[in-house]
Amino acid sequence: MTKLAIIGGTGALDLFHPSGPAIENTVTRWGPASMAPVPVDLGSTQAWFLARHGRPHHIPPHRINYRANIELLQTLGARHVVAINAVGGIAPELAAGDLVMPDQLIDYTWGRDHSFSDDAVQPLRHIEFAQPFAGPAGDALRRAAARTDIDLQLGACYGVTQGPRLETAAEITRLAADGCTVVGMTAMPEAALAREAGLDYASVCVVANPAARVDAEPISMAEIHRVLAQSMASVVRLLEAWAEEM
Ligand code: HPA
Repeated sequence: MTKLAIIGGTGALDLFHPSGPAIENTVTRWGPASMAPVPVDLGSTQAWFLARHGRPHHIPPHRINYRANIELLQTLGARHVVAINAVGGIAPELAAGDLVMPDQLIDYTWGRDHSFSDDAVQPLRHIEFAQPFAGPAGDALRRAAARTDIDLQLGACYGVTQGPRLETAAEITRLAADGCTVVGMTAMPEAALAREAGLDYASVCVVANPAARVDAEPISMAEIHRVLAQSMASVVRLLEAWAEEM
C-alpha cells in the first residue's frame, strides 16, 4: 500500500477522488482519529487522506486528536506526509492565496497532547527537531513546484497559536518580532508527533488572509473560506506533481 499521506485542513476536505473505501477501525490506543483515512488518487498515484478537523469539519484545532491521526497513518504504512494548513500572512509581502512551505515553526500552543512519550509504558524519546519540516517530502514539494510553475514560497516560519479564536493585533506584532512570517493553529503538535513516529513531514500553507492588524478591516471568515476554495486547485496540482516526484 502507498507510503504517501495527505492531512487536509480548513478548506481542504474533498480535494481528491477516493480510490477505495475508508478504513474501518479508526480507534487507536490514543482514542479515535478525526476520521477514517481514505485512499485517494493523486493523479496516477495513491495516497491516504485524512482531514484533521473531521468530516464534516467540526473539530477545533485544540481538540484534534493529533496522536491518533499520526499513529493511524503510520499504522497504515504512511511514511511521507504533506499537511495542508490554512494560515494568516504576517510578512507584509504575503497576499491572500499565496502558497508557502515553512521551514521553521514556533509553538505557542498549550494543553495539547503533544508527545507519544507520555507515560511509563512508552519509550522516552527526545527527538531532534531543529529543522521541523526537513526531509524527502519537502524536497519533492520544491521539485514539484518548479516543474508545475506553481509559486511555492520557501523559508517561512510558522507561528502556531492555540485558537480557535484569531489573534489580537498585539499578538501578531509579538509573533512578527519573534520571527514568524505566517500564523496558524494546527502545525503543532502534528509536526512533532510525525517526527516522533518516524514520519517524514512537510507542510503546504495556504495564506487565507493578512494576519490581524489594528489598522485593517476585521478578518472575515467568509473571506477566508472564499480564498481557500479558490486556492485549492493549485494545491491539488502541486500534490499530484509531488506524488510523482516521490
Ligand atoms: N490566524 C491563525 N490561523 C489562521 C489565520 C489567522 O489569521 N488564518 C487562517 N488560519
